[in-house]
Amino acid sequence: MTQIRRMEPLPRRPGELGVHSVDHFALAVPDIAAAETFYGAFGLVTRQEGDRLGIYTHHHPQRWGLVVEGPRKKLHHVSFGAFEEDLPKFRDRLETLGIERLDPPPGFESNGLWLRDHDGNLVEIRVAEKVSPDAKSAFENPSCGAGLRGAPSRLKAPKVRPRRLSHVLLFTRDVMKAIAFYRDVLGLRLSDRAGDIIAFMHGIHGSDHHMLAFAKSDAPGLQHSSWDVGSINDIGCGAVQMAAKGFTAGWGLGRHVVGSNYFHYVRDPWGSYAEYSADIDYIPVTQDWEGEDHPGEDLFSAWGPEPPPEFVVNYEK
Ligand SMILES: [Fe+2]
Repeated sequence: MTQIRRMEPLPRRPGELGVHSVDHFALAVPDIAAAETFYGAFGLVTRQEGDRLGIYTHHHPQRWGLVVEGPRKKLHHVSFGAFEEDLPKFRDRLETLGIERLDPPPGFESNGLWLRDHDGNLVEIRVAEKVSPDAKSAFENPSCGAGLRGAPSRLKAPKVRPRRLSHVLLFTRDVMKAIAFYRDVLGLRLSDRAGDIIAFMHGIHGSDHHMLAFAKSDAPGLQHSSWDVGSINDIGCGAVQMAAKGFTAGWGLGRHVVGSNYFHYVRDPWGSYAEYSADIDYIPVTQDWEGEDHPGEDLFSAWGPEPPPEFVVNYEK
């Protein structure tokens, strides 16, 4: 019997131009070995690749992060993934908008376009697999039946291993300019914001509530990278896992209002954070999401402890 193979349509919004994923972020730090220790303890896979460190999740081919050596901690670049047929359109768009195209940084192979954003951050738009999810990520809150023990033993709890990068949050000098730049140039859309203090943006081809977010500061910088896990239990166990390795500083457990995810942030050796995140809202490719301006009360969380004062300090200044 002949089977008729139906081609699945690409998970893309027809007729509109926008990047589909944060392909990876790159961070310069003075001590790559410290990055290997931190991200390894967090449950990620680190691979020495020449003089750089690649950051992966278990059982996933994507390189979500790249750590290079530099005199001080500094965001090196953010790379966005685009569909192959869209790259010439992005090239035309940059030309139309008068945005200068740059050579890739020395030593970086690239099939894409390099530019600087409104803050001077280096940005790449490259042809890449869509690694932002095509559906809301699985989340469970299991409860055992009567007559059974439900909680994991501290000694026997399996190591928490995040499944994928969810988003990065950047400090910016001007949140409204950031929204405009990433909307007009990269095609991201505003998901939600709180005044001009913080803003969250999603991809038009289906993505988490935010793949990129901005918080007001007086200089650019990376505030956190966020990693998806499957349960609140994983978030708690992740926090314990990091504390056991000496990474006790952070913020959590809590639940955000904007994006709805449960969270625990762990402070890295340079004063930025890695977030365990679960059950973040999802914006399907078919939905025109209405961004809202939230009151200041909703800025940090629906519930949880107060964030420590250094949580909002930009150490890249
Ligand atoms: Fe986050």
